[in-house]
Amino acid sequence: MPSIFSPLKLKHLTLPSRILRAATYENMADPDGCVGEQHARLYQKLATGGAGTIITGFSYVSRQGRALQPFQAGIANDEHIEAWKKVIDRVKQADPNCRIILQIAHTGRQTDRKATGETPVGAGPVRCTYFLSRVHTLTESETAAQVKIFGQACKRASRAGFDAVQIHSAHGYLIHQFLSPYTNRRHDRYGENRFLFLKEVLEDARSRTSIPIILKMSGSEDRPRAITPDLTSAYISEIEHLNIVDAIEISYGTMEIAFNIMRGGHPLDPVLHHNYLFTRFGPAFLWFFKHFVFHWYKRRFLPFSPMYNLENAIHIKKKTNSTIPLLVTGGIRSVEHIREVIEKHGFDGVTMCRPFICEPDIVTKFSSNLSKKSLCTSCNLCAVNCDSPNPLKCYRPGSENR
Ligand SMILES: Cc1cc2nc3c(=O)[nH]c(=O)nc-3n(C[C@H](O)[C@H](O)[C@H](O)COP(=O)(O)O)c2cc1C
Repeated sequence: MPSIFSPLKLKHLTLPSRILRAATYENMADPDGCVGEQHARLYQKLATGGAGTIITGFSYVSRQGRALQPFQAGIANDEHIEAWKKVIDRVKQADPNCRIILQIAHTGRQTDRKATGETPVGAGPVRCTYFLSRVHTLTESETAAQVKIFGQACKRASRAGFDAVQIHSAHGYLIHQFLSPYTNRRHDRYGENRFLFLKEVLEDARSRTSIPIILKMSGSEDRPRAITPDLTSAYISEIEHLNIVDAIEISYGTMEIAFNIMRGGHPLDPVLHHNYLFTRFGPAFLWFFKHFVFHWYKRRFLPFSPMYNLENAIHIKKKTNSTIPLLVTGGIRSVEHIREVIEKHGFDGVTMCRPFICEPDIVTKFSSNLSKKSLCTSCNLCAVNCDSPNPLKCYRPGSENR
């Protein structure tokens, strides 16, 4: 079994260790999606701290695929490439061996027209119970055009100098919407074969760039007749046949219940203050919600437990017997957890998000025995602040990285 600090080889790319910093939305770009000094400092700090491999927050592939937050980074044009180049330079100056991977995404129905300038698009007309926007179902030719948009974004990632690209196929974003039977109720070729959109995206991306391609997939979601571990396994078997993908990260859920992607605390006051669902309501409604509705509402939230995606990931791993390196994310907080995922269950690596927000040097602390356990309490103040104008940081009172 590989040790957790041994390199991880992804065909043409070697990652310094089995621990990766998971994609984490930064809320730091300018309104045109260009990254700048704040991004550079964030990633420089992670590189200096020994992160080894950094996956960026989700960057939009086109204006139509923008998230609600006004400070999301983009990889939709040449200006974005130039801006990212400077950030990558800073990372490589800090640690020439640090790998930096761009996560790219199209939000599909999980956004609203204020962000995109048009009716959000999706695999089908089903509205998202969180964003509530009307959804324009992409026609067959519009879907084929999206394939190229993803491919072009991958090409831009490689021109910017990223070591790899992660195509976001999880959390209910556009690719997930095509994969899930709940959102993809189409009768055309993209509905008869729900894998087809992702397959074409991967083929187009590979025809444009040779950098490694990593996928993030939700192994399961919160509703019946949607993505299940068995369906994810079937998709991974098809992905394996394509021989394009270099690693797959197993996550969970959709933005319909974002707290179930992350699990942990539900800090209600900042949610009511910042969250899109609530900012449209006045104080009387918020008071009523807080005192009478929230208790009932939060029954939808799944509890946090250490390594909460591991069970699904084990199911998927056993079912597919995949030779594609598999990474697990979610609730991994200690050296013991990482060993369990890698050494006991045979996964190739782990990704951690919140522990790196709280301690950017956590890998160095682990590798030098300065610490065996993250200080992160999964309070989710960092997550809730994604909806605020504030930049990414640890918002827990008393945190060393506030
Ligand atoms: C503040 C914050 C921002 C996140 N941004 C992204 C993102 O941009 N893309 C993504 O795929 N996942 C994102 N996630 C999910 C994480 O990558 C990760 O899968 C999840 O938080 C579970 O890992 P953890 O328990 O180590 O935090 C985010 C999570 C948090 C808390």
